[in-house]
Amino acid sequence: MCGIIGYTGGEEAVPIIIDGLKRLEYRGYDSAGIACQCDAKVEVRRCKGKISELDSQLSDFSGSSSTAIGHTRWATHGKPSEENAHPHRSDGIVIVHNGIIENYIELKQQLEGEGYVFTSETDTEVICHLIKKHSEDKSLTEALMEAIRSVRGAYAIAAMSEKEPGRIVAARKDSPLVAGIGDGECFVASDIPAFLAHTRKVVFMEDGEMAVLSPEGIEFLSLEGKPIQKETVTIDWNAAMAEKGGYRHFMLKEIFEQPRSVADTITGRLLSHRTGEINLEEFGLEDQQLRTLEKVTIVACGTSWHAGLFGKYIIERFARIPVEVDIASEFRYRGPILQDNSLFVSITQSGETADTLAAQRLAQAQGTKTLSICNVVGSTASREADAVFFTRSGPEIGVASTKAFTAQIVALYLFSVALGRAKGALDEDGARDLINDLLTVADLMEQTLLSDPEIKGIAKELHKNKAFLFLGRSLQFPIALEGALKLKEISYIHAEGYAAGEMKHGPIALIDDGYPVVVCAPKDDLYEKVVSNIQEIRSRGGTIILITNESNKAHAAGISDYVITVPDCPTHIMPIITAVPMQLLSYHIGVFLGCDVDQPRNLAKSVTVE
Ligand code: G6P
Repeated sequence: MCGIIGYTGGEEAVPIIIDGLKRLEYRGYDSAGIACQCDAKVEVRRCKGKISELDSQLSDFSGSSSTAIGHTRWATHGKPSEENAHPHRSDGIVIVHNGIIENYIELKQQLEGEGYVFTSETDTEVICHLIKKHSEDKSLTEALMEAIRSVRGAYAIAAMSEKEPGRIVAARKDSPLVAGIGDGECFVASDIPAFLAHTRKVVFMEDGEMAVLSPEGIEFLSLEGKPIQKETVTIDWNAAMAEKGGYRHFMLKEIFEQPRSVADTITGRLLSHRTGEINLEEFGLEDQQLRTLEKVTIVACGTSWHAGLFGKYIIERFARIPVEVDIASEFRYRGPILQDNSLFVSITQSGETADTLAAQRLAQAQGTKTLSICNVVGSTASREADAVFFTRSGPEIGVASTKAFTAQIVALYLFSVALGRAKGALDEDGARDLINDLLTVADLMEQTLLSDPEIKGIAKELHKNKAFLFLGRSLQFPIALEGALKLKEISYIHAEGYAAGEMKHGPIALIDDGYPVVVCAPKDDLYEKVVSNIQEIRSRGGTIILITNESNKAHAAGISDYVITVPDCPTHIMPIITAVPMQLLSYHIGVFLGCDVDQPRNLAKSVTVE
């Protein structure tokens, strides 16, 4: 949800801000803007559309600036337009904001009564006028402090004043903000990739903290103005990891990165390959805690929720304890029952999803131990959870999640084996066999990716269809849901994922001549049952695209219109493999339809508002 970046230093700020905004574009991309300090003035340029549009509008900008802030927006209050784009201005004060100010209407009425004129429909403009109001007799830092005392809601703010050249003041509450420290230059941004090309030294800001940036360094303050000592962390990603690296889209690059990404998730997590013993320290948990565990509650949103569903199947299968899975926005408002001896697991790529964070906080408030399976190091979920397991997929830039999903599945698989051992549901041999199966996954994914040209051919033939159904059963059910989500996200084709056995209770009514149904059905103990569903679809004229294992190809060809094969492997690791053709099919359909697959309309990668 919205990306912000600020820079102050000795370099030309505009290209740094524009480049940073391009790297934050995954957070929102309906309008954008920049404010630069030029001599004693602040110049603002804004426009509807993407950063490339802003960039081209800046071609006539001849000023020189070494301090600037920028914003890429995902509209909440007010349509995407130049007027509603950030930065907002009140005389010599400019600000960019990510979040939602809940009491903005009453503040707006109050400020209008005092003579302030509003030029946008946003909630953000009230903060700008409030800072202006308090800055008559105060510094920018004090004025921002004063302003945020009156606002309710979530914010990450960066502000500048014409009266204080070279300075940016930032504050955060419930919206992410990280600071970057370079050589004679400082940065503040919603996410690390924004300034990763310039520095890997970062400071993660907490709620209720402010940062005052100047080329000399950053001072961190509490909202009461007390200095805070913060730890500087050196990030081990490099800027190239957030580049397309020759691929046409980030999504395709990230799909192809999966063999490495799942290997990175596994590396260092085993105490011994020989015994298959898992290093529980990597989960921040002790054997004793797992042994007494009676229930696991998994909460997540979107793709991460689908990974959570896989977690339910795999944990119940290997550890034999009950698992509840919920969508975070439902969980947080339904008065959930978290019993003693239960573990709450949040799954979140970004670690910043508002509903997932709220659910995690709710569990903590009830005294439940929390584990976050998270990709982004330093994110709020990872810092607030009692224990964290990093998926180590590297930066995922494509808005539709791919490599983070398979890494989450691998993390849950490891967790299920560890829990199975601790609970005594798995013996040493059983655990070792399961881990040995997992260790083949990267190779199996490599082999699966070789089918890309064939999948592209199928996508070419099918891309004009208006709707798709995705079916799967047991461990393949979450993959069917994820396949449908991927397709609708990036191609805008209506797609539904269903448990194959449930098809006759409604979705079968959709089937008519040529209706495409993607079925994920490796040859396992439920295969025959799914074959019955396939026959029911075929007898009503539906088109079957069957994803199955290589040695089942001949049978599959006899009952379907298109067959996509994946290498033979055990049922429990198959979902990690079948996820790949699902992703590729959606990707190619999206591309054939001319969609912006990396930045689909209306979506944002990191949903930091409710
Ligand atoms: C957004 C993204 C999805 C993602 C979901 C949850 O909707 O577009 O790709 O799955 O948020 O995000 P998280 O970062 O919590 O996994």
